[in-house]
Amino acid sequence: MARKKFIAGNWKENGLLAEAKQLVQELIPLVKDITTADIAVCPPYLAIPAVHELIDGTNIQLGAQNAFSTEAKGALVQKGAYTGEVSPAMLKDAGCQWVILGHSERRQYFGETDEKVNVKVRACYEAGVKPIVCVGETLEERDGGKTASVVEKQIRGCLAGLPADRMAETVIAYEPVWAIGTGRTATPDQAQEVHAQIRGLLTELFGKDTAEAVRIQYGGSMKPDNAAELLAQPDIDGGLIGGASLKAGDFAAIIDAAK
Ligand code: PGA
Repeated sequence: MARKKFIAGNWKENGLLAEAKQLVQELIPLVKDITTADIAVCPPYLAIPAVHELIDGTNIQLGAQNAFSTEAKGALVQKGAYTGEVSPAMLKDAGCQWVILGHSERRQYFGETDEKVNVKVRACYEAGVKPIVCVGETLEERDGGKTASVVEKQIRGCLAGLPADRMAETVIAYEPVWAIGTGRTATPDQAQEVHAQIRGLLTELFGKDTAEAVRIQYGGSMKPDNAAELLAQPDIDGGLIGGASLKAGDFAAIIDAAK
């Protein structure tokens, strides 16, 4: 079965409440007739309830940009004395279907590791929220010929112990760190090469049927003018869009390119 394309907007730390509402209100009519791609927006936590209300009954799904869980006394934590954190169960309660985990900005600025992401992935499934797991190499790693090994280590670490049926519902976002927010996009060939490697690794770890079902998004300066070419690659199943998701017209144009 063909994989349905999935375009998600990662708003990052952008959008006061009024801006978040305006953005989503502009987006709704622009994408209302799209049936060829799944669409999600991932606002900052505080805008989630307002956006949830506005997208109710539309074809736009809701996601968060992070979640917290850890293991304590052999159980996955969904609540407790973890000041400032938000659990997968709380995100589910707020209407989220998706949560981005292991974004490179979280790895770089907040000490996120593959092991921590792995716990969060499992906690998301316990709570009924599906993860979008981000992987990708730095420029130094790419230049050093380490892209494949870096991505393999991240995938093995983040997804360890996941049953195949859960894996099939998990989305992977390949985001080369050097392409995020830099305006420098991976070429379609560069991206496809890594996407194919990821699918090969998933085949080894979870079997062919599961690997064929997993959607692998590309992320890193995807824009209206380069989206069609990237999305035409056989193993690129969508996009995780940062900057361009903050303009309704640009985000809608990218979604349109996923036809
Ligand atoms: P960008 O961000 O589209 O602004 O490069 C992508 C991401 O970080 O998910």
